[in-house]
Amino acid sequence: MSKKVVIGNWKMNTTIDEAINLVIDLKEGLGDNSTIICVPYTHLGVVQEIVDDRIAVGAQNLCQYENGAYTGEISSQMLQSLGAEFVVIGHSERRTHFNENDETVNAKIKQALLSDIVPIICCGESLNLRQSGEYLPFIEGQIKAALGGVDKKAALDSIIAYEPIWAIGTGETASADQAQEVHAFIRKLLRSLYDEETANHMSIVYGGSVKPSNATELFQQKDIDGALVGGASLNASDFLQIINAL
Ligand code: 13P
Repeated sequence: MSKKVVIGNWKMNTTIDEAINLVIDLKEGLGDNSTIICVPYTHLGVVQEIVDDRIAVGAQNLCQYENGAYTGEISSQMLQSLGAEFVVIGHSERRTHFNENDETVNAKIKQALLSDIVPIICCGESLNLRQSGEYLPFIEGQIKAALGGVDKKAALDSIIAYEPIWAIGTGETASADQAQEVHAFIRKLLRSLYDEETANHMSIVYGGSVKPSNATELFQQKDIDGALVGGASLNASDFLQIINAL
């Protein structure tokens, strides 16, 4: 069965002091639950030092190359050496603002796997694609490209995040039915790319304006295994409510 998980994506937010306070507040309210937080590169070391075993730490990006003359880039080995267990790959903000494409996304996933870091693989359509009705073939293309050359063993533990671009940071969430349709489609696609076991085991989480007020309905859907939360993950109370909803 797929693992249920709520993941925070802090994006380019928080100073180091704010990050420390946020982690302290999360630890205080988490109870028996667990979560993953994907923090800015600069915070990985400090955050890793203060979390306990209920909070796994991840990054939000990595370089597609192994090492060498790539000024300003961060490698999967560097992330691993700081204790990062997860990494967000192919977020629409990186595809839009930093020219990432299906090819770089695939290369980054392979780099993450080489360092035993679990990729959180993002996909999702623009508003134009949603309105044109062509969103499912588009998402199929993104996932096939992302998982090209990724074997079953590596795929099994990977996480897919469906994040419709029109729902990110807009306050407009996909309805539970809209999200479930795409999640079921992705699960079916994983079945055809791999097999039943892989499709059932892989977590497919939803992202896009997830809040305490809409989390429960989303999580009730059969193929929604959790959430990738942006804005609301920066507020401990909101984020903890979303985790509790799961
Ligand atoms: P919001 O929750 O702020 O819409 O962001 C979603 C997201 O992009 C998570 O990766």
